[in-house]
Amino acid sequence: MPVAVVILAAGQGSRMKSDLPKVLHKVAHAPLLVHAMRAAQSIEADRIVVVTGHGGAAVAKAATDYDESAVIVTQDEQLGTAHAVDQARDALADFGGDVIVLYGDTPFIREETLQDMLSARQSGAGVVVLGFDAAEPAKYGRLVLDEKGGLERIVEAKDASPEELAITLCNSGVICADRAIMFDLIKAVDNNNKSEEYYLTDLVGLARNKDLPCAAITCHEAETLGVNSRVDLAAAEATFQTRARLEAMENGTTMPAPETVHFAYDTYVGRDVVIEQNVVFGPDVTVESGAHIRAFSHLEGCHVSEAAVIGPYARLRPGAEIGGGAKVGNFVEVKAALVASGAKINHLSYVGDAEIGEDANIGAGTITCNYDGVFKHKTVIGARAFIGSNTALVAPVAIGDDAMTASGSVVTQDAGEGDLAIARAKQVNKTGLALRLMNKLRAAKAAQSKDN
Ligand code: UD1
Ligand code: CA
Repeated sequence: MPVAVVILAAGQGSRMKSDLPKVLHKVAHAPLLVHAMRAAQSIEADRIVVVTGHGGAAVAKAATDYDESAVIVTQDEQLGTAHAVDQARDALADFGGDVIVLYGDTPFIREETLQDMLSARQSGAGVVVLGFDAAEPAKYGRLVLDEKGGLERIVEAKDASPEELAITLCNSGVICADRAIMFDLIKAVDNNNKSEEYYLTDLVGLARNKDLPCAAITCHEAETLGVNSRVDLAAAEATFQTRARLEAMENGTTMPAPETVHFAYDTYVGRDVVIEQNVVFGPDVTVESGAHIRAFSHLEGCHVSEAAVIGPYARLRPGAEIGGGAKVGNFVEVKAALVASGAKINHLSYVGDAEIGEDANIGAGTITCNYDGVFKHKTVIGARAFIGSNTALVAPVAIGDDAMTASGSVVTQDAGEGDLAIARAKQVNKTGLALRLMNKLRAAKAAQSKDN
């Protein structure tokens, strides 16, 4: 059965106290909205419709940047959740299948949970709602069940009787129904309630009036966690990280201090990778099997191949491609550079816009001078080349295979295969001069203190 997902993302989120629309605040380097879109992708949704309102242009851009096939619709006035879903009516007019409604500010709904909802639909429920047992039901809508355990209706806290308020089974907001039925039912929703809003929750009572059976599926409360404030955002980050660390360990990653490792939403880590203390991943990082990421390293937009060793204290920036068994050591920054397999950059270097050949050795303090203030230029270093400590490579420049640079060189011209480039002042030794100079200075100081 085809499935479409409608993501509600029109609300302002005033409690964030932000100029940024709420759904664009990030957890694990991805906007909340992207987390909801990933949930939709996890069940292979055939169509994703995002309902925008506050900050609409920015929200639409984030949605289509992530998935260019996302359909954007606009809700000009926020008149309630049913009114929000109604904005997707035209975008789904030709769609035959189920529709699942998600919230853009609820990032943690799992694939398994959405599959459970679709299965309940397959088993004959007309409308399926995702509920959870709330520790503090306070403001949530309550799921009222009939004596057979079917879902009878949903009542919003504001409109609930004292008996209904005693119910702890709450509405997450996630709801699923056949497309045609959902939009038919929405037509019948009115705003005769305390909030004068068009409630999506009314679909359940309306379906029951038409003898359509409705069902509640439940999940853990943590999955339905919504973000309304900066405090919630930090809690969501913590929830994400806890889950990501567990997943990494379950997939074969060793982490001596998992609570200090921070993943991004899309970090990929292979088997038998070791990630030491205080490692931080930005977006778009892949670490292949057997690699070792040592303490206090920061990685983003990079690829680390099998058995490479990174850090401690290394920084891999976007475009860093580290080959198998290569080493990037302490206080080394690599950006937009290919470091071929077996190459070593062990200490205190900046390597940017470069290609480092296989088994090359880059000495301590080597700098690629890649930027002239306007343009970026490339440095190419051949296989097995040996770059002496404290070499400045003024790009564009190329060093051949098996070539060397003398330490302290400022290299401005290419060096051929097997050549030694020496580009530093020649050393001159003045016999005994150091001693004579020191004696003279000490004598001058002694004369000075006698005068005073
Ligand atoms: C809603 C549910 C409630 C449930 C709770 C779970 C209704 C009537 N109530 O209440 O049963 O327990 O979520 O968090 O559905 N939105 C729009 N346009 C609108 C209104 C809302 O896009 O016109 C979006 C909001 O940005 C938000 C989501 O829909 O992401 C939920 O809206 P919100 O106002 O937070 O609903 P609640 O009152 O919390
Ligand atoms: Ca809410």
